[in-house]
Amino acid sequence: MPIPELDTPALVVDVDRLETNLARMAGRAEAAGIDLTPHAKTHKCVPLARRQLAHGARGLTVATLDEAELFADGGCDRLFIAYPCWAGGDRAARLRALHERVELRVGVDSVTGADQLAAAIRGADHPLTVLIEVDCGGRRSGVTPDRIRDLVTHCLRIGLDVAGAFCHPGHAYTSPGQVPGAAADERAALTTAGAVLTWLLDRPPVLSGGSTPTALDGLAHPLTEVRPGTYVFGDRQQMHLAAVPEDEIALVVAARVVSVPRAGEAVLDAGSKALSSDRPAWLTGHGWIAEAPEATVAALTEEHAVVRGLRRPPAVGDLVRVVPNHVCTAVNLGREITVVSDGKIVDMWPVGPGARR
Ligand SMILES: Cc1ncc(COP(=O)(O)O)c(C=O)c1O
Repeated sequence: MPIPELDTPALVVDVDRLETNLARMAGRAEAAGIDLTPHAKTHKCVPLARRQLAHGARGLTVATLDEAELFADGGCDRLFIAYPCWAGGDRAARLRALHERVELRVGVDSVTGADQLAAAIRGADHPLTVLIEVDCGGRRSGVTPDRIRDLVTHCLRIGLDVAGAFCHPGHAYTSPGQVPGAAADERAALTTAGAVLTWLLDRPPVLSGGSTPTALDGLAHPLTEVRPGTYVFGDRQQMHLAAVPEDEIALVVAARVVSVPRAGEAVLDAGSKALSSDRPAWLTGHGWIAEAPEATVAALTEEHAVVRGLRRPPAVGDLVRVVPNHVCTAVNLGREITVVSDGKIVDMWPVGPGARR
């Protein structure tokens, strides 16, 4: 890595690769006639969000109120909280304030959650728009698609504006090879939900889906909107799941060799507090090292990564680029991103507040 002065561990983005990734996904969505509403929890970074919007994104998706406030403050005027947001306590006022500032949409998957949302915005001069979350096979939140009728009817009765349905095909991540099946499940779930919504609503429903691997697999009917997040940077999971090649990975954790305790091994200064401990069951190791692709990041403690299987003897002080297993959780641990182009630092971008709530 040609930046010896880097203070490690550091999140480093190659802005030229980032731009290529942004343009490619925007182009795919446009070609398919589908709105791109990228999930910004991956980066929580206002300068990066502005680039997504400049590439034609129709607003941003977020998971938390913190993230929604960060991007509203940063100038984004269309936000989707794709989460069954609980609007109790001081969140009610925060949600109401967001509803008054930006074009806000919120996920809902229960009558109780819908009641809380309606209570939070009671007295506002326009209704809150919600999307019904359906479970397309990820077995996380969401109602089964053929059982949304009662929830839709309830939302309409209490004055919420139901715009459509959304789902996240998280089961695409259960092992390599699952992506086409998860994408098909997503289309089937949204088709079923769409039929019910078309019957109950007075306008064509928004049918919002997406993850990075399914979006890279193909964008197709009945989706009207797609919300990939990880595509901006790529990560080691995407290298395996979505066949993202190494030269499309835009973000690495730069780390330094701080100890060479045994032959063929090195200890890096990027532990679980820099790389995060996220590791799918089907993946061995905690990252991929660009300078030593044969090696395994075999163990992490908070500030140490133990690398084994090195072919070339490392030296204390060497810099390496580690592609984290899951980039969203790694970026969430950082405070800033070092922006490089052609091997030179060109900017520093802040990372927003933690995923507190
Ligand atoms: C509801 C929702 N939408 C979209 C995404 C983005 O998916 P990906 O991380 O595969 O880009 C996620 C990621 O977890 C999500 O939970």
